Formats: sequence, C-alpha cells, structure tokens
Amino acid sequence: MVQINLPKNSKVIKGIYYKDKTNSKNIRKVNVYRWDPSTGENPRIDTYEVDMDNCPSKVLDLLNKIKNEIDPSLAYRRSCAHGVCGSCAMNMDGKNGLACTKPHAEIKGDINIYPLPHLKVLKDLIGDLNTLYKQYESVEPWLKTSKKNDQQENIQSKSDRSKLDGLYECIMCACCSTSCPSYWWNGDKYLGPAVLLQAYRWIMDSRDEDRKERLNKVADELKLYRCHTIMNCTNACPKGLNPAKAIASIKKMLATS
Ligand code: SF4
Ligand code: SF4
Ligand code: FES
Repeated sequence: MVQINLPKNSKVIKGIYYKDKTNSKNIRKVNVYRWDPSTGENPRIDTYEVDMDNCPSKVLDLLNKIKNEIDPSLAYRRSCAHGVCGSCAMNMDGKNGLACTKPHAEIKGDINIYPLPHLKVLKDLIGDLNTLYKQYESVEPWLKTSKKNDQQENIQSKSDRSKLDGLYECIMCACCSTSCPSYWWNGDKYLGPAVLLQAYRWIMDSRDEDRKERLNKVADELKLYRCHTIMNCTNACPKGLNPAKAIASIKKMLATS
C-alpha cells in the first residue's frame, strides 16, 4: 500500500479562541484560516466571537470588524468593497465568492472562511495569484490592431459589441479557476477558466485583428483541452458569468475553423 507522508507543518491545527468582550447577546462564531510563513508554525483555525448587533451585512464587514476591533494581525485582500476589483475573493462556507458581496446572513451556523482553494498561501486569506497573472499576460489581453490613430474612437456595431456581453464583466477574481479540478491538478499548464474566458473576450472582439493567432495560441492539449466541462467554474462565478461556455465556444471555433 502506498503511504503518503505530508510535511509536519501542513496539518491545520486548532488556533486561538477570541471570546467576545462586549457582552453582546447577538454573537456569531467566525472560524478563519490563519498561516504566517515567517513563524514556521502550522496553519491554524482561529475562532472569533463577533458582536453581530454592530456589524454591517457582508462577510467583508465581518472581517473588517475582526481586524479593526479584535485582531489586527489578520491578513486578507480587499479594495473596492463593491464587487468590482475582485481582490476579496475567498472561500466562505465552502464556496468561493467575493467577501464584499456575500451576505453573512446567508451562512447558517458558524462562519468558516478560508483562502481560495489550491493556491499557495502567502499569508492567512491571501492566495498566490502570480501563476494566474502570468497566464493572463500570456493571452495578451489588449486590443491588437494595425490602426494607428489613437485619437479617435475605435467603434464597433451594436451587434458586435453585444458579443462581448458576459465576457467584459469578468473581474479576474479567480473564483472560477480555483474551483476547477483540472486547474487544481494542472494549474501550471492548463490556463483555467478565468484566463480562457479572457482569451475568448479578445477572440470575439470585432476590432481585434489577431483572432487566428489568438485561437492558435490556446489550441493546445494542456492549455485548453484540460477542460472536461465539469462546470464548477460557472457555478462559482460571483458575477454570474459562464466561463465553461466560453471555453466550449473556443473549442467549437477551433473544430470548425
Ligand atoms: S468546465 Fe472546464 S474550466 Fe470549468 S470547472 Fe470544469 S474543467 Fe474547469
Ligand atoms: S469568470 Fe467570474 S469567477 Fe472567473 S475570474 Fe471572471 S468574474 Fe471571477
Ligand atoms: S473588495 Fe473589490 S470585489 Fe470585493
């Protein structure tokens, strides 16, 4: 029988319990993944008792309250607080999403918060997105045109513009890619749903003159065809987009071109 030994410090242990000090009658327990590479210690789950009478409605508000009032050492990304920047993506109650748009009232029982799955963790809730951004760069996500005049609008028809609906709204939060089993196991080679949706966004832009090259660039056993249409990506997208459909469309374009 094969025996697999995990490194000693990979085991997640029980962490610190922060008891409520406000005597609130409306308490919720929030369990948060913590890991600080500078200490050499195991990752742990800290539990915070949070006074919900004085907490706005979203999971990000909860984390801000913990950071501001209970434990300033907690690390997580956030910026816009309006579902626009994508930086607060994390795993809440077992599902990837944006902490700033997820109402904590939707979570029953204790609130469990983890970093996005299958990323290297940099600290606490902050995952390492370097590989994903390099992959994003590899699809050259900008308009390629021989038109030199940058003083004029580069217009397109209404119907061409509508072909970008469901694509341009992507905020590169990585909720989809980090919920994709194919990306978990082959994330260094498979581009994953977030980057493939972005690739498709430029393939579909009527103003772009590089469609053929863009298609050829992703037409690869590992980069594209590792998608097995499991659909986790589409279920995970907090913006309601459909990366699985975008990937299927790229495959269809390649099959019929
Ligand atoms: S449909 Fe493709 S990209 Fe989406 S989760 Fe499944 S394998 Fe991953
Ligand atoms: S497709 Fe959705 S889940 Fe994926 S990166 Fe874009 S916004 Fe995030
Ligand atoms: S903080 Fe910008 S999307 Fe949540």
